Amino acid sequence: MQHLILLLISINFIGFFGCKPNDRVNKANLLTISENCKNPIGFYNSRPTFSWKLPVNDLVKAQSAYTIVVASSPDLLPGYPDVWNSGKVVSDQSTFVSYQGNPINSRDKLYWQVQYWDQDNKISDWSDVANFEMGLLTNSDWIGNWIGITNETPKEKSRANTPLFIPQYLRKEFAIDNHIKKARLYITAKGLFEAFLNGEKVGSDLMVPGWTPYAKRIETLSYDVTNSITHGKNAIGITLAEGWYSGRIGYKRSQWTNTKPPKVLCQLEIEFSNGQKKVIFTDNTWKATQQGPVRASEIYDGELYDANMELPGWSDTSFNEDEKWKTVVSETLDKKVILQPKRHLPVRVIDTLSTQSILKSESGEVIFDIGQNLAGLASVQVPMLKGDTLVINFGEMLNKDGSLHRKSYRSAHSTDYYIAKEDGVINWQPQFTYHGFRYVQLSGFKKEMKPQKNWVNALVMHSDFKIKGSFSSSNPKLNQLQNNIEWGLRSNFFEVPTDCPQRNERLGFTGDAQVFSRAALYNAELQAFFMAWLQSMREEQYEDNIIPVVIPNIIGKYSESGWSDAAVIIPWEVYISTGNKNALSENYDMIKRWVAYHQSQSNNYISHMKSVGDWLQPYATGEDPRRGDTPQPLISTAYFAHAAWLTAQMAEVLGYHEDYNHYIELYKSISNAFEKQYFDEAGKLTTEKETQTGYLLALDFNLLSKNTKIKAAIHLKRLIHKADNHLRTGFLGTPLLAPVLSETNNTDLMYTLLLKESYPSWLFSVNQGATTMWERWDSYSLEKGFESESMNSFNHYAYGAVGQFLYERIAGIYPLKPGYKKVKIAPSIGGGLKWAKGEIESPYGTIRSEWILTDSKFELQVVIPPNTTADIILPVIRASDLLVNGYKDIESKDVILKSKKSDVIELEVKAGSYKFTINNI
Ligand code: BGC
Repeated sequence: MQHLILLLISINFIGFFGCKPNDRVNKANLLTISENCKNPIGFYNSRPTFSWKLPVNDLVKAQSAYTIVVASSPDLLPGYPDVWNSGKVVSDQSTFVSYQGNPINSRDKLYWQVQYWDQDNKISDWSDVANFEMGLLTNSDWIGNWIGITNETPKEKSRANTPLFIPQYLRKEFAIDNHIKKARLYITAKGLFEAFLNGEKVGSDLMVPGWTPYAKRIETLSYDVTNSITHGKNAIGITLAEGWYSGRIGYKRSQWTNTKPPKVLCQLEIEFSNGQKKVIFTDNTWKATQQGPVRASEIYDGELYDANMELPGWSDTSFNEDEKWKTVVSETLDKKVILQPKRHLPVRVIDTLSTQSILKSESGEVIFDIGQNLAGLASVQVPMLKGDTLVINFGEMLNKDGSLHRKSYRSAHSTDYYIAKEDGVINWQPQFTYHGFRYVQLSGFKKEMKPQKNWVNALVMHSDFKIKGSFSSSNPKLNQLQNNIEWGLRSNFFEVPTDCPQRNERLGFTGDAQVFSRAALYNAELQAFFMAWLQSMREEQYEDNIIPVVIPNIIGKYSESGWSDAAVIIPWEVYISTGNKNALSENYDMIKRWVAYHQSQSNNYISHMKSVGDWLQPYATGEDPRRGDTPQPLISTAYFAHAAWLTAQMAEVLGYHEDYNHYIELYKSISNAFEKQYFDEAGKLTTEKETQTGYLLALDFNLLSKNTKIKAAIHLKRLIHKADNHLRTGFLGTPLLAPVLSETNNTDLMYTLLLKESYPSWLFSVNQGATTMWERWDSYSLEKGFESESMNSFNHYAYGAVGQFLYERIAGIYPLKPGYKKVKIAPSIGGGLKWAKGEIESPYGTIRSEWILTDSKFELQVVIPPNTTADIILPVIRASDLLVNGYKDIESKDVILKSKKSDVIELEVKAGSYKFTINNI
C-alpha cells in the first residue's frame, strides 16, 4: 500500500508540473518557521510563517513564484498535502509567508516543503522536508498540578541575609509494559528545573524555563524523550531551585522578602505502537527532599554543593530511599497565569574557554586567567582531600596587588563552594547560578598539588542564538573593539537583555537594550529573543499605558523616557533587520498606548516625563551627574516625537492610513514645539548647557526645520572640536554619533572619534586591556586605577552601539529595504584603514563586503544573496577607472549604472559575487 502511495505521489509529482527534473533549478534550503526557528519541538504559535533561502549559484537570481505544501506526514509530501497547500503564488516573497490552513493544535507535528520558480520562470526541485511540532498551547492541555516542598516562610537565610529556598529533588517511578512509539516531556517550573529520566539529564538546557512576568505567563519546555524510556521500570527525577522566581533579584530588599517557594509542573506523555497512551504528571504521589547535595543555589550569590549529601541513583530506578522523603504539596493551576511554549531558545553552554595562565596575587591567592570576560560558570577538575571545601571566587578584573577586584559585584556574593566527600579529583560545575568573570580564584584544594591550567575551564553561557555577523579591519584595536562588542552581547543576552552579568542587577533594562539593539541585530540572530522579550514588555504595560524601565518589571510602576521607549524602537529595529511584519503587528497596540502615555505627560507637546537621562555622560555636573547635562524635558520631548514618527512608519507598513496621518501630524507638532523650545534661529541650543547629545537627538530624530538642521550640525561639530575631538555623550547620545555624523557628511570626524585613544573614547578601554564593553568610559585606567563608584561594571554593552558604524559605514552593509530585501553596499574609506570586511547572515543568505585600499587601487568584493538586489556606491574619480569583475564594460545583465556624479558612482546589481576595482584612486 505504502509503495502504491509513493508511486502515485511520484507520478503526481512529475505529471502535475509537466517538467522533467533535469530542467529544474536547485532546491531552496534552510527552511525555518516564524522567528527563524529550525524544525522546533514544542513550538508556540499555531499561526506560523514560513521562510526559506534560495540556493547560491550563478543561475538563481530571484524568485518569481512559490508553492508551500504542509502535511501531517512526510510520506504525503509533496503530492498530498493534507494540511495546507498554498498553490502557486506569484510572488518574490521568500520570508515570513503566513500559514493559511486550519488552526494547528497542541502536539501536532507537521511537515512542509517549498518549491519556487526563478527569475526565468524555471521551477526548482522540492526542498528537503522540514517539520515543526507544537507544544502544549493552552492551560487546559495540562492535567497535573504544581508540586514542591512548601516552606512558605523559610527559616534558612542566604549569605546576604535573604530568605533561602534550599533546592529540592523530586522523583516518581512508573512502569511501561508496551512498545513505545514516541514520548514527550512537557515541563516548567516556578523557579528553575533540571529533569532526569533514568539517571540521564533531559536535553542540554540551563536556567529553564527562563524569565517572564511570572504572574502573567510562564514558559514551558518540550522534549523528545522517546529514547530515554525503557520497557519495564522507569524513573523521572527533577531538581528544583529558586532562580528568578523565588530568589533575590533586584537591589531593593522589599523585592525578595515575600517570594514564594519554587514548584514544578510536568507531563510525560507516552504513546504506544498500539495507539494507547500513558501520561505521568506531577501530583501529590511524588516524593521530594531538600537533603540533596546542592545546599543552596542563587543567581547572585552562587551555589554550595556538599558531596557528602549526594543521593546516588536518585533519579534512577535503583534508588529505594525515597520512603524517607517527603510527600509533596500540590497546587492547582491558576487560570490567569498563561502557560506558553518557550518562544526562543534557552540558555545553554555555548562555548568552553580554557585557562590561559595561572597567576598568584601578592598574598598568594591562586587565580586562573581565562583571558576573556564572560558570563557563565567555572567547571573545575581539582584534587581535593575529604572534608575540605573548595571555594571558587570570581573577578572581572584584578587589583594592583594581583587579588580579585570584587567591588564590581556589589552585594552579589557570586561564589561557589564544593565540599569533598573523599580524597581525589572532583569534576564539578554548578547547576542553577551563573557569574560574570574573567578570573577564577581557587582555594581549599589539596595543598601539595601544583595548580594546573586544566583545573579550570570557563563555560560560556547565554541564550542559544547564533552569532551571525563578523567584522574585521586592518586596525587591530578596532578588531579588539569588535571583540568587546560581541562579548558584551554574548554576556548579556541571557534570557532577557540584561544590563550586566555580574552584580546584584542583571536586569532587563529597556534603555540599554534599545540603544544597543541595532548593533546587536547586526551581530547576532536575535529575532526570536527580542520578540519574546517584547511579549513580556506587552504583558508588563500598565493599564494607564506606563511601560516600566525594567522588563520583567521588578522595579516598580514608572516610565522613563529613552528607556521605556524601547517599546517602539526595538520592534522597529527587529522589523528593519528581518522584514518580519509581526514584530510590528504584535506590538502595535502597546506602541500606540505608549505614545498616548507620552502625550499624557506633555503640555503643548513639550514633555515633562522623567528620563534616566544621558546616563553616565562623561564630565557631567549637576545634582545627579549620572543623568548627564542634557535636560530631561528635552530628551523626553525628543523621544516623544521620535516615538510618534516611528509609529507613523509602522502604521504605513501595516496599512493603517488614518493612523499614519495622525502620527505624522503629531510628530510634526512635537518637532515644531521642540525646535521653538530648545533652538534659536542660529541653530544653537538654548539650554543652559550646550551638549553634544542635545544636538544629536535633534538631528538623528529629524526634529528641526531644514535650515536650522544645517546650522545645528555645524554647532555639533564645533562642540566636538571644542572637546578636542572627543565625545561627551552617555548612553543616549553615544549611539547617535555615528548615524548623525555620517548623514551630515562628517564621516571623517566620526572616524576621528572612533579611533581616539584618550579618554573618553572607545579605544581608551581597549588600551586599558578591556575584553568586553565597560559601563563607564573610564571604569578602569592603567594610570588612575578603578573608578571610585561601586556602580562600575566591566560587562555593560550600551556603548557597543557603535558596532552599527563598523557594519554600516566601514564595511558598508545597510538594509535599504526591511530584512535586506534590498541592500546598500557603501563602504566609507577613512581612518587610515587599509582594508575592512563585514559579513552578515541576512534572511536571504550571506551578504559580504570586503575592501582593500592600496596606494593606487581600491578593490571591493561583494556577495549579494539570491532574491535580493543591491545598490553599490563607489568612490571614483573617473568612471573609466572602474572595472567590474575585471571588465571595463561595467554594465551587464546583472549590473546597471544608476547614477554617476563627480566623485561617486552608483550601480544596481542582482544577486551574485562581484569584484569592483578602481584604479588611480
Ligand atoms: C544599570 C544601567 C541602567 C540604569 C538605569 C543601572 O543600574 O546598570 O545599565 O540603564 O541603572 O537606571
